[in-house]
Amino acid sequence: MPIFGRNSIALETIIYTHKIAQDLGNYISTLNFSKLGVITDTNTEKFCYPLIKDGLPESHLHFSFMAGEANKNLDTCSAIWQWMTDEGFDRKTLIINLGGGVTGDMGGFCAATYKRGVNFINVPTTLLSQVDASVGGKLGIDFNGFKNHIGVFTQPKAVIISDEFLETLPEQELRSGYAEVIKHGLIRSEGYFNCLKTEGWQNQNWRDIIERSVSIKKEVVEKDPKESGLRKILNFGHTIGHAFESFYLDSEKHLLHGEAIAIGMVCEAFLSHQKSGLSASELQTIQKIVISIYGKFDFPQEDIAEIVGLCAHDKKNEGVEMKFSLLNQIGKCDFNIPVNKEEITQAIQLYKTI
Ligand SMILES: NC(=O)c1ccc[n+]([C@@H]2O[C@H](COP(=O)([O-])OP(=O)(O)OC[C@H]3O[C@@H](n4cnc5c(N)ncnc54)[C@H](O)[C@@H]3O)[C@@H](O)[C@H]2O)c1
Ligand SMILES: [Zn+2]
Repeated sequence: MPIFGRNSIALETIIYTHKIAQDLGNYISTLNFSKLGVITDTNTEKFCYPLIKDGLPESHLHFSFMAGEANKNLDTCSAIWQWMTDEGFDRKTLIINLGGGVTGDMGGFCAATYKRGVNFINVPTTLLSQVDASVGGKLGIDFNGFKNHIGVFTQPKAVIISDEFLETLPEQELRSGYAEVIKHGLIRSEGYFNCLKTEGWQNQNWRDIIERSVSIKKEVVEKDPKESGLRKILNFGHTIGHAFESFYLDSEKHLLHGEAIAIGMVCEAFLSHQKSGLSASELQTIQKIVISIYGKFDFPQEDIAEIVGLCAHDKKNEGVEMKFSLLNQIGKCDFNIPVNKEEITQAIQLYKTI
């Protein structure tokens, strides 16, 4: 049994495959479990469940919830826990979460808390969840309008990733996940960033991209699993990006996570240029690439103050400095850099003027 230091953890096993039914089936046949439960949302039930079903024992049970971030909440958890209880799941039950980040975060949270925790496997089906959400052990749900407010850190038994699922994924969702891929290059590898496609980005070797992105995320998480330092670099683009995501959540300008992060990365690249050494030409490169893929998001001037307020989470905290993760150069990111509200406002203003 390996002994891990205080700051390290045994990370999940990650398996890449092109034959999901077969390899998932083979993997679970090596595990000891009493019952097997599969959690999907209504879309992954339709598009992804048929791709794995044949690899599973016939006795497996299945639960589906209505797709969408709006359902990543306690009510859906209650329904999942109720299903687990009704089916008599015990502590040796195995759960498979088949879906995007919503299914992985919430299904994982339910598994990690049911009877103080049962084993679960994540089978991520969106690019975003394959390169990001399913790796690193962060699980949870939204609560009363606060994103990912309730949750735990628990590692899945394994993450099994197949690019087969991407074939049915809507292009807008694929593009959303691609923002995290771009982020991985920006924070950790200039070489990776330089080989990412801008034109025709829809047609790439996703398998290679997923493996490179996961290796970056994994390396960072392994060094700092509980986000006391280095892991914060994964938040590049996210402080301002989350504020845009939250602000337009219930409006017709509603943004997917990656679309909001794309805006956040451009704004935070401005801040990086001002505060942490990113050169003017690198700033231009980032701007050009991100805008060419995501376009420019149009929003009224009068929304800016509230978006800036959301960055601080507390609109009453006037004058308080926030800590950002900012780039020193493409491929290198620093964290805990203090930024004040005026600077954030200016960065968002600059985005508007591109
Ligand atoms: N835990 C983490 O570290 C972490 C990191 C990043 C994001 N997240 C969370 O992940 C969530 C976003 O993830 P997401 O973008 O995967 O969202 P999602 O799970 O809602 O999936 C997006 C949409 O695609 C559909 N879908 C999924 N796979 C499909 C497929 N193969 N074919 C067709 N449709 C498919 C889903 O039903 C949904 O409608 C957010 O809740 C975010 O907070 C978590
Ligand atoms: Zn993200």
